[in-house]
Amino acid sequence: MDYENLINLAIKARESSYSPYSGFSVGASVLCKNGKIYTGCNIESSAYSETICAERVALSKAISEGERDFVAIAVVGGKDSITSFTYPCGACRQFLSELCPQELEIVLFNGNYIEKTTLGELLPKSFNRSSIV
Ligand code: THU
Repeated sequence: MDYENLINLAIKARESSYSPYSGFSVGASVLCKNGKIYTGCNIESSAYSETICAERVALSKAISEGERDFVAIAVVGGKDSITSFTYPCGACRQFLSELCPQELEIVLFNGNYIEKTTLGELLPKSFNRSSIV
C-alpha cells in the first residue's frame, strides 16, 4: 500500500504540535479500515509527565468517534525538520495494542525514506486483554 497521503497528513498534523519544553514536534495519522484518517500531534505540559504523544492523540480521536478497526499509523517527528525516524514510545506501543491488531502497520518517515514495521514487531509478547480475561 502507498502511504504517501498518510505520511503527508502526519507531517501536516505535526505543524500543530505544542512542544515548548522539548522543541520536538511529532505528528501522527491513523488509517481506519473504512478509509477514514485521524491525525494528532504531541501536546506537552509544564507538569512534564502529563505530556501526551501524537500517536495517542490521533488514536484517541479515532476511538472517540467510534472507530475500532485500524490498519496503519504514520508517525513523523523532529526538532526542526524531520531528519530521523520517530519510533512510538513504549507507552504508545502499549496504548496502541489495546485496540489495534498486531498487524497494524507502523509507517515512519525520516524526511527521505519510509520505514514500515508492525505493532507486533515493536511490542512482541505484550500484556493485553487476553492476559486478564
Ligand atoms: N513524542 C511523541 O509524540 N511520540 C513519540 O513516539 C515519541 C515522543 C513526543 C513526546 C514529547 O512531547 C516529545 O516527543 C519529546 O519526547
